[in-house]
Amino acid sequence: MPQMLAETGRMVEQALDALLPVPEGPEAKLLEAMRYSSLGGGKRLRGFLVMEVASLFGVSPTCAARVAASVEMLHAYSLIHDDLPAMDDDDLRRGKPSCHKAFDEATAILAGDALQASAFEVLAEEDTHSDPQVRADLVLALALASGMRGMVGGQMIDMMSEGRQLTLDEIARLHSLKTGRLIQYSAEAGAILGRAPASQRHAIASYGHDLGAAFQIADDVLDVTASAAELGKTAGKDAASGKATYVTLLGVERAQRQAEMLAEQAVAHLEQFGPRADRLVSLAKFVVSRRS
Ligand code: IPE
Ligand code: IPE
Ligand code: MG
Ligand code: MG
Ligand code: MG
Repeated sequence: MPQMLAETGRMVEQALDALLPVPEGPEAKLLEAMRYSSLGGGKRLRGFLVMEVASLFGVSPTCAARVAASVEMLHAYSLIHDDLPAMDDDDLRRGKPSCHKAFDEATAILAGDALQASAFEVLAEEDTHSDPQVRADLVLALALASGMRGMVGGQMIDMMSEGRQLTLDEIARLHSLKTGRLIQYSAEAGAILGRAPASQRHAIASYGHDLGAAFQIADDVLDVTASAAELGKTAGKDAASGKATYVTLLGVERAQRQAEMLAEQAVAHLEQFGPRADRLVSLAKFVVSRRS
């Protein structure tokens, strides 16, 4: 699986590199920070999902790579802001200093803002898809996944819950908003690009939903069980800041089993695609067995 991710990752990296301009002019620092935080790192899992689902529906890899780059921009923005002192106050990301450490807080805030805008810009451009309805559907789906009812809403709940105990249902909702929605979108974007029939788009969305839930539980488990060297980000951070996680509620082993159960549930939604979905099946297994 890591090799499959790396192969697609290279395509996504190339698309990102081409879409992010070379730093120049008085705002060069902004562009440097945007490139610093979005190029040369990350598992590219969201990009992989876009590319892989798009290929199920016969979409050209060039169009899919633009949508993959777009979601990776949005994701990079979310990480830059997540690491800010006002949020998780994390100095390490993808094995190097976080954006606000490598640059400064103002630049990190602005780089995040601009990456978010660029993500939507790329989706709206004609090169992404010839049909304006498809482009509008992508823009709407990303807005819903990333905004107040998606990632940002989840980040608010995450911040509010520091030092408090949440119920399992509350944590499940937190996870589904802060992480799940963008992962679900990444899968669904491939189906939107491919104008998939409603029933197939629905199956892909359900896969993405359960995969996203499994992914964030695994992230919480890794925070406790992996090292900073493996993760490329600070370990033990959730306990140190009193975050409510599956691990605090269930312990490492039960949390891990819950993640594995959700990954199996994700795979069950792929049945109608047969062996064509093998790589998506492998991805679900990887998400709950990864060490980084
Ligand atoms: C980290 O996501 C943030 C979460 C939503 C848990 P990833 O683990 O996908 O981060 P990268 O892109 O590989 O660095
Ligand atoms: C971050 O969750 C989710 C985002 C929306 C960025 P975490 O705070 O657990 O992510 P890491 O562990 O810092 O990557
Ligand atoms: Mg956080
Ligand atoms: Mg964090
Ligand atoms: Mg985490």
